[in-house]
Amino acid sequence: MAREFSTVGVVGLGTMGAGIVEVFARNGIDVVAVEIAEPALERGRATLTASTDRAVAKGKLAAADRDALHERVHFAVGLDALHSVDLVIEAVPEHLDLKQRIFAELDRVCRPETILATNTSSLSVTEISVATTRPNQVIGIHFFNPAPVMKLVEVIRTVVTAPEVVADVEALCARLGKVDVTINDRAGFIANALLFGYLNHAVGMFESHYATREDIDAAMKLGCGLPMGPLALMDLIGLDTAYEILDTMYRRGGRDRRHAPVPLLKQMVTAGLLGRKSGRGFYTYERPGSPVVVPDGATPPATEAALGDGARAIAKVGVVGSGTMATGIIEVFAKAGYEVVSVTRGAEKSATVCEAVKTSLNKGVVRGKLAEADRDAALGRISWSATLDHLADVDLVVEAVVEELSVKKALFASLDEICKPGVVLATTTSSLPVIDVAMATHRPADVVGLHFFNPAPVMPLVELVRTIRTSPETTATARAVCAALGKIGVVCADRSGFIVNALLFPYLNDAVKMLEASYSTADDIDHAMKLGCGYPMGPFELLDVVGLDVALAIQRELYLELREPGFAPAPLLEHLVTAGYLGRKTRRGFRDHSHR
Ligand SMILES: NC(=O)c1ccc[n+]([C@@H]2O[C@H](COP(=O)([O-])OP(=O)(O)OC[C@H]3O[C@@H](n4cnc5c(N)ncnc54)[C@H](O)[C@@H]3O)[C@@H](O)[C@H]2O)c1
Repeated sequence: MAREFSTVGVVGLGTMGAGIVEVFARNGIDVVAVEIAEPALERGRATLTASTDRAVAKGKLAAADRDALHERVHFAVGLDALHSVDLVIEAVPEHLDLKQRIFAELDRVCRPETILATNTSSLSVTEISVATTRPNQVIGIHFFNPAPVMKLVEVIRTVVTAPEVVADVEALCARLGKVDVTINDRAGFIANALLFGYLNHAVGMFESHYATREDIDAAMKLGCGLPMGPLALMDLIGLDTAYEILDTMYRRGGRDRRHAPVPLLKQMVTAGLLGRKSGRGFYTYERPGSPVVVPDGATPPATEAALGDGARAIAKVGVVGSGTMATGIIEVFAKAGYEVVSVTRGAEKSATVCEAVKTSLNKGVVRGKLAEADRDAALGRISWSATLDHLADVDLVVEAVVEELSVKKALFASLDEICKPGVVLATTTSSLPVIDVAMATHRPADVVGLHFFNPAPVMPLVELVRTIRTSPETTATARAVCAALGKIGVVCADRSGFIVNALLFPYLNDAVKMLEASYSTADDIDHAMKLGCGYPMGPFELLDVVGLDVALAIQRELYLELREPGFAPAPLLEHLVTAGYLGRKTRRGFRDHSHR
């Protein structure tokens, strides 16, 4: 019989604690909510009230249920109020000495059978547990932010946690409507171990002016379908908390440099820029605690005129190539009203591309997204050619041929001879340095990267890669073109992986390393990222879709360019690729797809 939890205590009512109180009270459990002093207690009460009022306003909670929920919560200053609860969850700041002091005190105050749990993200539950005389009743219950929304709970057992305590807590999670994964005590557990290297990397990109905060966040939201960008997420987590988590993970997790907090973080914390809770972090918020972002000095101008400042007029566009990307890009430009010259290596290939574009446009018509007349007009704007000479009078060329530097360089040298002056020359490369193709021409100032995502007609994102030779007019032109295509163009520097791949693939590689170390299973890791962080797919699902060979190639490039030891491809990834297990396309990758 699972233990009955009728009253629980929550210590610390900050970002996490207030949410955890709500989770319990919503599920009919009485809560003793404790803070260190009266003002903090009031803040916690206000957070709970605001959150439940929002739920009522959104129709997700009846007013009577909200009132009943509040009646279940008893607020108090000091740990003495916890003398008769069945379980305590501690959610105070991420400092080992503070948590140890609180656990020693809880051990004295609480009944002998009370379970003591910590919501720590990165500290050792074992080290916290030895501050008590009952380490076998100490456990980690790691909720995700915002606690009332995110479904995942990581349950952390130490080597001494009693099995029945683990079982009782798992049953409690089910009662709260949460999905739990039970794991051993390791820095960052599953989700944060995979998340924080990525978040820190994104902060590093921002610090080094690699891209703006808006562009970094838009890239990850639109390129990967994440619920929020990394810098907005840092603001939600709280920069002080994030700093402590990274610092602990660095020290506990093998001194991986990727977890050494980026210096800017410490400076922001010192300056009181803690994120949403203080009203300012990477972004500025309406007021402390508000999720509403307001413009500040770093907000880019929104008007199209400002975006297109110095942009050249583009009417006619050449697209070189006959693969998936070229086909999609031809469609995108033709639909947006540009005249398009498609150049392939022969009439047969042109016919195939033409058919593919027609099929795709027809699908739009069948789905009611495109009028027949618009389809016909779009097709009428495309001319088909097998020679580059027909690009003599275009205003922009988008190259989407095979991903081989020698081929691209030869093509750009030819374009340099054929195209009129002032033309913008764009490459869609996803892994080669844009500067290499730019230097194959005598006009590197006119060369830019336009990294479309697959499928181009659907994906809203384009990475706009500017080299150290790209002129401001070329960048402005590329921006204006993206806007005219209805795409979000994010500008970044010319470094391996640009924004999206540079942030995404090391995370996927880390997941493979975690699996390889037998810390958890592919299913639990996928669950953790989907339910704890709101990712649309788990890392192993995504790897099987992307292709393990593709992931390995990108990871190798990143490792070669940045020489970051943490970026070394996971041996398991290499072995699976060698074995021909490439993912869905070979019916086997991390999972067996042969029966699906
Ligand atoms: N922020 C997140 O996204 C997140 C997610 C999961 C877990 N966590 C973990 O949850 C814990 C709390 O983090 P947070 O972000 O909510 O921090 P926070 O700074 O927002 O809140 C901490 C609260 O603890 C209170 N406090 C400090 N000392 C206390 C004491 N002696 N007794 C009672 N209360 C005390 C503070 O007044 C404050 O209100 C940390 O261990 C953190 O790693 C955070």
